[in-house]
Amino acid sequence: MPLERLDKLLASTGRWSRGEVKRLVREGRVLADGRAAASAEEKYDADAVELCVDGAPVRLRRFVYVMLRKPAGVLSATEDGRGTTVLDLLPEEYRRRGLFPVGRLDKDTEGLLLLTDDGALAHELLSPRKHVDKQYYVRVDGVLDESDRAAFAAGMVLGDGLHCLPAGLELLSPGEALVTLREGKFHQIKRMLAARGKPVRYLKRLTMGSLRLDETLAPGEWRELSDEELKQLK
Ligand code: URA
Repeated sequence: MPLERLDKLLASTGRWSRGEVKRLVREGRVLADGRAAASAEEKYDADAVELCVDGAPVRLRRFVYVMLRKPAGVLSATEDGRGTTVLDLLPEEYRRRGLFPVGRLDKDTEGLLLLTDDGALAHELLSPRKHVDKQYYVRVDGVLDESDRAAFAAGMVLGDGLHCLPAGLELLSPGEALVTLREGKFHQIKRMLAARGKPVRYLKRLTMGSLRLDETLAPGEWRELSDEELKQLK
């Protein structure tokens, strides 16, 4: 790894601004490899240096990956003057790092949302050419049947001209199904099911590629991905 300035390394955690790091260093509160840092401009290898602030070790990470169980009523945007966003559900240090949601869920959709500051991984997961499947649980008004499954499997062209790639529809009960999409067009599942005359009443994302919603999280709760989850996702 190239050497990087101490203020940049510590600010990348999202816990302090560069200005705050300068002050901490001045006050002798930052140890680098066991010695008090003399200047915030000192340079270190992020992979090798051991940093402590006020005696506590600081973990330097290039990127952060958070699984959020998005509740209904919260926007997937990073900023919005009109309401609570998913970023408002995370601690300040994540917001400072510039985390963003990988793709969007509608305001009333619940379930799995990945947030990260790793733009390359986000691009991989969202690129239509990469064919990353996303699975949703859906409840509708009306009775789903074999003709709906066949229409989804064939790929639908909606009345408004939207072309939908073939998608999976696995019937669970007359009004419930698992839908698997390879793409994420605006309101896609709602529009596909509305076109079948069976409007969506409830929608929850369960998976994105190999990543599965941790059902022990309550709506609005989050946790970082495990090493195993991250390895599989990459
Ligand atoms: N399809 C929808 O209609 N809404 C979502 O939030 C996700 C997929």
